[in-house]
This record gives sequence, structure tokens and C-alpha cells, in this order.
Amino acid sequence: MKQGKLLYSGKAKSVYLTDDRDTLIVEFRDDITAFDGGKKDTLKNKGSYNAGVSAFFFEYLEKHGVKTHFITMLDNHRMAVRRLQMIPLEVIVRNVAAGSIVRNYPFKEGMKLSPPVIVIDYKDDTRHDPMLNDDLIVALKLATPAELKAIKNAALAVNRHLSALLAKQGILLVDFKLEFGRQGKTIRLGDEISMDSMRLWDTKTKESLDKDVYRFNKGDVMETYNRVAGRITNTAPRRAAPKKKAAPRKKAGVKKLAAAKTKKR
Ligand SMILES: Nc1ncnc2c1ncn2[C@@H]1O[C@H](COP(=O)(O)OP(=O)(O)O)[C@@H](O)[C@H]1O
Ligand SMILES: [Mg+2]
Repeated sequence: MKQGKLLYSGKAKSVYLTDDRDTLIVEFRDDITAFDGGKKDTLKNKGSYNAGVSAFFFEYLEKHGVKTHFITMLDNHRMAVRRLQMIPLEVIVRNVAAGSIVRNYPFKEGMKLSPPVIVIDYKDDTRHDPMLNDDLIVALKLATPAELKAIKNAALAVNRHLSALLAKQGILLVDFKLEFGRQGKTIRLGDEISMDSMRLWDTKTKESLDKDVYRFNKGDVMETYNRVAGRITNTAPRRAAPKKKAAPRKKAGVKKLAAAKTKKR
């Protein structure tokens, strides 16, 4: 597959055309931003950690019947995906109160939200992603009622599958953001599912294992991303403390995962 013209360059990823009109390449860059782009940095290898975790989740979800845009990894930071007509919604699923929901509503941080709460924002940085409701979504013709129902069902399915998977690694899926798009009449999950788009806490210690480490200067972001990517994908951290005679399997981490994803579907 040949990478073509740059189609779009966002805050953390670039999207390229390919020689196949139905396929795009998403490049996960090393850029990290927070607060609508108000805080920005470039962190070496960040893109490959997020790409590796996203690919791992997309493959897992496909196996469990969720339709995604994922085709294959091309290298450790570039992913071939189905071209979607993106729907400008940020679909957020919350299992535990944290972040903006605590700032804007009288929830206490850490309070369990059961059943999970779905919040849908309008993806528009210039308007600071205002919250929508079903009537606004339909009135703005962003999605039909049937599409909205399909999107919410898919978001809840993702939540069930990923919450259970992460729980096995001792990680609490606090909340996450999804983006969906249309491929013809089919709604597919697009974009990414990574440490940038999820809020993850260590189940026991409640330590942040996601972009909150960057947002709120809680520690070494890349050390956290490396560690959590290893925990999620069940591979050894890529740069484990140097050992004189490291076992070969300790070297690979996300890189190895990316290589393993190069098979075509
Ligand atoms: N399968 C897809 N087809 C078309 N566009 C996509 C697909 N998956 C993700 N995108 C879009 O590509 C962009 C990814 O870059 P990103 O840095 O996240 O941008 P943004 O700053 O807009 O969030 C997003 O705007 C996202 O909606
Ligand atoms: Mg984005």
C-alpha cells in the first residue's frame, strides 16, 4: 500500500490518502496536547505506544463483534484504516466520576456511576466541544435517531469488553472517548483508543495511568505510557531497566506488538 497526500493533520495524528480510495493511513505522531491544545509537547515514542494500544483494542473489539476502522499496522506508529465519513461527536462513557463531570456537576471524584453514563459532545475545538443531547444531535443532522442508537449501543459494548479486559490487568476503566464514522450505511468505530483518550486508574493504588499524568504534571508521562502499554498488551515494557543479560523476550514491548499486527485481514 502506498502512502499518498496528507488529508488532515490534527492535534496528535496525521491522516494520509493511499492508492486505495477506501483506505487511509493514520500516523500517530509524538505530539501530545491538553486543554484544547493550550498545553503542547512532543514526547519521543509516544505515538507508537498509543498506536500499539489502539491496534490491540481494535483487534480485540473486532473479535467481539464491534465494527471498527482498523485494518492493519504498517509499522509501530502507522495504521491502515477504512476511510470513514466521520461524525463530529465525542462519545464519552463514564464508569467513575472524574474530570469535567466533577467540575461541572455535583459528583464526588471516584464515585461509581452505575449504570455507566454516556455524554456526547460536539467535536468542535473552537466551541470547546459543547455537550449535546439527542434532540440537538438530530436537529443538527449530525446523526439520525437510528444511528444514534447504534452509536450508543456500540459505545456500551466497547465499555463492557474493555472494562473486563483491563480489570484482568488491575486497571480500572474510569472513562473514555470514542469517535464514530460511516462507511456507507455501516457505523464503525474510528480514531483511537489509547492513553490519550481513556482515563485509567490502577485498581489498587488509584494511580493515574493516562494523559492526566501530562495534564496535571503528575509524573513522567512516557514512563507511565510505556508501563501501561506493556500492562495492557501483556508485553514487557519496551525499555525495561538495562540488564546485562536481558532475556530476548524482554526487548520487544509495543514494537513487537506492532510487528505482529502486520497481517492483512
Ligand atoms: N477512519 C477514519 N476516516 C477518516 N477520518 C478519521 C478516521 N479515523 C479518525 N479520523 C479523523 O482523523 C483525525 C485524527 O487526528 P487527531 O490528531 O485526533 O485530530 P483532532 O485534533 O481533530 O482530534 C480526527 O479528526 C479523526 O476524526
Ligand atoms: Mg483527536
